[in-house]
Amino acid sequence: MAPFLKSNQSDSKQSALPQTNLQKAMSPVISSQDRGFLYGDGIFETVRCRNGQLLLWALHRDRLVRSCEILFIPLRMDMLDQIISEAITHAPATDCILKIIVTRGEGGRGYAPPEEADATMVLQWHALPPGTDTASQQGIDCIYCDHPLSQNPVTAGIKHLNRLDQVMASLQLSRAAQNFPAIKEGLMCDVDGNIIEGTRSNLFAVINNTLCTPDLSRAGVQGVMRSFLIGHFKAAGIPLEIRAIRKQELSVASELFVCNSVMGLWPITRLLNLENNSANVQVQFPSRQMSAVARKALLEIFPL
Ligand SMILES: Cc1ncc(COP(=O)(O)O)c(C=O)c1O
Repeated sequence: MAPFLKSNQSDSKQSALPQTNLQKAMSPVISSQDRGFLYGDGIFETVRCRNGQLLLWALHRDRLVRSCEILFIPLRMDMLDQIISEAITHAPATDCILKIIVTRGEGGRGYAPPEEADATMVLQWHALPPGTDTASQQGIDCIYCDHPLSQNPVTAGIKHLNRLDQVMASLQLSRAAQNFPAIKEGLMCDVDGNIIEGTRSNLFAVINNTLCTPDLSRAGVQGVMRSFLIGHFKAAGIPLEIRAIRKQELSVASELFVCNSVMGLWPITRLLNLENNSANVQVQFPSRQMSAVARKALLEIFPL
């Protein structure tokens, strides 16, 4: 299902709407002139939906609004709220994913956006990727991806549609996983060799007995799950450093885990180095102490 809605569609019928408006909006056809398609001029959120409830919705909503503000995309949030609340009553499964995409819509001249943009909103339902919960319990292997993450202090943090870095890294990751199926995530660094995040996740590490997570002020996505966990660790009085983490530091890390708002969190068991079709263990992470604290916090808001 792919609801599609222009933000300037009449709101005069809104009271009668949800149903009609949502149905009207259920066209998967996006104009080839849409700036999201042409330039990646837009943002998205991927939200886990369980029993008709959106996990960490307030944090997703905040990031969505903030991202549109940073990109100067005018967004009718009242309308988006309305179609989302209607859409979740039609969730296709008790546990699934709602993807929300907002683009600047059509128009402008070349890259230059139109003075008055008319945002496009798209909702899509997706199934949960297989093995999500098994990996949370058993842990995963990971590799370093060769493709570096681009840096930009203005767009760092937001979940914009320009995801070529992740596409390139995921190509390497999927090839690695074909031969070594326990490899489920790839770590990505900036051009200076700082570890930033996973291809689709944020990272926490315990280094010299201190919990750390990479600074994302120049690159990476400020994940909703990361924000939730930072808030939880703070409230629990667990010291956490948000700082640049050099690649070499992982060799002395006792624990590593990645998180995102769909999979929750995955402990990393081993960091592998793939050479000549064989996998060498670069580092093993024996501890699960902090990921257990994080998991407990997560289960409190979203029992499995
Ligand atoms: C590149 C990247 N970083 C981090 C995340 C984690 O974000 P969130 O916790 O909001 O799902 C994602 C999620 O898809 C991502 O694609």
